[in-house]
Amino acid sequence: MAHTVEVRHVTKMFGSETVAVDDVSFGIGKGEFFSLLGPSGCGKTTLLRMIAGLEMPTSGHILLNDKDITDVPPYKRDVNMVFQNYALFPHMTVYNNIAYGLKMKRTPKAKIAEAVQDAVSTVKLDGLEHRRITQLSGGQQQRVALARALVNHPSVLLLDEPLGALDQKLREQMQIELVDLQEQVKITFIFVTHDQREALTISDRIAVMNRGKVEQIGTPKEIYEFPATRFVADFIGTSNFIAGTYRSSENGLKRIVSPGADIWVKSDLALSPGEAVTVVIRPEKFIISEERPEHAANILQGKIEDIMYVGTDTRYFVRVSSNDTRLQVFAQNFQHTAKQKFTWYDDVFISWDPESTSLIKE
Ligand SMILES: Nc1ncnc2c1ncn2[C@@H]1O[C@H](COP(=O)(O)OP(=O)(O)O)[C@@H](O)[C@H]1O
Ligand SMILES: [Mg+2]
Repeated sequence: MAHTVEVRHVTKMFGSETVAVDDVSFGIGKGEFFSLLGPSGCGKTTLLRMIAGLEMPTSGHILLNDKDITDVPPYKRDVNMVFQNYALFPHMTVYNNIAYGLKMKRTPKAKIAEAVQDAVSTVKLDGLEHRRITQLSGGQQQRVALARALVNHPSVLLLDEPLGALDQKLREQMQIELVDLQEQVKITFIFVTHDQREALTISDRIAVMNRGKVEQIGTPKEIYEFPATRFVADFIGTSNFIAGTYRSSENGLKRIVSPGADIWVKSDLALSPGEAVTVVIRPEKFIISEERPEHAANILQGKIEDIMYVGTDTRYFVRVSSNDTRLQVFAQNFQHTAKQKFTWYDDVFISWDPESTSLIKE
């Protein structure tokens, strides 16, 4: 696959102590919506700034359209960045903010007008060209920042938490608009966020970062359904962990021995018998029942310790008798089960499918 951006063994040190980015490698395809996701301080901004040329890697290489650009200054790179705080000129008009870069490059006036108009309609700011930035809402300022980055038609748009300052409703609306916008302009997007829901919603692929390293790269579905590490399983959504030992493979399933029950898992993870593993199950994959299910491959018995009603679903916290782990079960509140089925201290069974399970080594 041809890559628009390739990051090869990139490391960034600040001083001799801080390893902000630690030997990171990945390739991003043309027109991909790629997200860097991770907690504050994990190195997302630093990585983005190195792709923009605003920081130099301590070691490693960055390629753009198959050319090594590690030593190319930022203004000669075919990339543009949307900053976290927008970095707009507050006293200038929308038009002049968007036109700024083109004016600096001494682009002919008529060309500038055309390009700005084009960018303005792409981000749906028509009619606001002559407003000052201070007269705009947060959402409108965000659009100006986008238009200013898009006006040069770069190969790659770098977005550093661009929706971070918006309230939740507007943020969700802008997420949808960003996806539409990206499909329209067909530019490769590298989007930084610490919000796992946001990353799952908008990305073609996600790189999950932790302490300067990439823990997993995959589609939202791969990352959510099959987290490769405990960090990913914990950081994205909610996960249940059950410790066990790999015993054998039978009929395409792996048998994991854990106190009180064998657990069957469909997984390609290479394991040798006797190896310690952790079984990861998402809370909504569990079925909770009063009676012991007849045909389930995996069944645990437990007692309800806590119940949380959260509108769309009800969350049950179940203490498993055999291994003393506390599991979370999310049960969707369908119309016909709007009346809560279980109550505190009920004895229940929890069952789930071998395919709705992921395995990690520790
Ligand atoms: N200019 C800098 N000088 C020293 N340390 C820095 C600098 N920029 C970032 N860092 C450190 O590098 C690490 C990664 O920071 P950053 O890339 O901003 O993370 P994120 O964007 O994921 O929150 C942090 O420990 C941060 O304190
Ligand atoms: Mg940051």
